[in-house]
Amino acid sequence: MFDSAAQKEARGADHHSALERFEAVRRETEALAANLTPEDQSIQSMPDVSPTKWHLAHTTWFFETFILTRFDADYQVFDPAFAYLFNSYYEAAGPRHSRSERGLLSRPTVDIVAAYRDHVTAGMTRLIERAAEPAWSEVVPLLDLGVQHEQQHQELILMDIKHVFSLNPLLPAYQAPQLHVQAPAPPLVWVDFDGGLKEIGHQGADFAFDNETPRHKIWVEPFRLAARPVTCGEFLGFIEDGAYSRPEFWLSDGWATVCQRGWDAPLYWHREDGEWSIFTLSGRRRLNPGEPVCHVSFYEADAFAKWAGKRLPNEAEWEIAAEGAPISGNFADRRHFHPCADVSQASAGGVSLPRQMFGDVWEWTASPYIPYPRFRPAAGAVGEYNGKFMCNQMVLRGGAAVTPAGHVRATYRNFFPPSARWAFAGLRLAEDLG
Ligand SMILES: [Fe+2]
Repeated sequence: MFDSAAQKEARGADHHSALERFEAVRRETEALAANLTPEDQSIQSMPDVSPTKWHLAHTTWFFETFILTRFDADYQVFDPAFAYLFNSYYEAAGPRHSRSERGLLSRPTVDIVAAYRDHVTAGMTRLIERAAEPAWSEVVPLLDLGVQHEQQHQELILMDIKHVFSLNPLLPAYQAPQLHVQAPAPPLVWVDFDGGLKEIGHQGADFAFDNETPRHKIWVEPFRLAARPVTCGEFLGFIEDGAYSRPEFWLSDGWATVCQRGWDAPLYWHREDGEWSIFTLSGRRRLNPGEPVCHVSFYEADAFAKWAGKRLPNEAEWEIAAEGAPISGNFADRRHFHPCADVSQASAGGVSLPRQMFGDVWEWTASPYIPYPRFRPAAGAVGEYNGKFMCNQMVLRGGAAVTPAGHVRATYRNFFPPSARWAFAGLRLAEDLG
């Protein structure tokens, strides 16, 4: 049985668009690393941070391990030792180098990692162009997972290098200063939502991670959501009210963390002669009261909400509010790499939809990262991608100024431990409606 001309054309278009998705993500990762010297790319500033060089190699290992070695009999592994060095956490893929020692790898060099990337990119290009059924049907979902995985690491490259640079007394800037509008916090407006039996979670043929599924019913009480994230100006009020030394606002674990680590402001905030400044990927600059507060832990987000007499939204409330909103905003394609004040909100009265749900800052929710009812992890080694982390972490929603555009959706669930502050995470307030 032969394909018709129309079938052949459709198959060609399918391969062509897959190749475009693959090439675009590889190019973008390399563009992000191009601002950095080989020395910059080798540093690990804390166990959560990985060197840029490691991200470049690990995203490559993902395609090599889960696609090329399985589906291309002619593929030659670049260096068998890399399976040990660049496996992150996949038990099924064998033993691996310790996460906290990734900064000790002066070898392979940045040049060798670049050659590794070129080798795997060439191998993947060949496979995408030539793969036939039935393998192609298996390759495509793994290819899309690899593309989305590499996008996640693009965000990690920016998060991680910001932390690395922040510890250098020279405070290097990743990029030139960006134009930003110094603005007061716009007035806070609230948007009301009905309660009742709702549905959340992903459904349909478009890409989603397994942790967003299955779509399921959930009961929601009537609630209100702030029309914008909490700003630096508002968070300054929390600091100036002495809230970092008042245990009544803090969860027990949060208070213990504040005391242990001596927190008195968000990460990257600095006070000198009574003036606050913040460190950004474009260097240090004066605190902008109108922009969304960023680099707070879940503990700080929760304490702020309590101090303000409000609460954090749960993830169902957030998703219901975001459903139908355009997925546009301050994402990485704008190259600010920092949350921006939405100056158009200064006169916002009677808004009907919350704004800045997507981009700027990931928003902490009150929801623990646990499986949805009837969740089933993906089959095979990639089943380790999400499911095994569903303990002791909290869900964040919406994406940030370092998240690749097009990467997130209303159903997207990010997750971090409650004490993590190096992610671009902020918050939005919620409250119960009578
Ligand atoms: Fe990864």
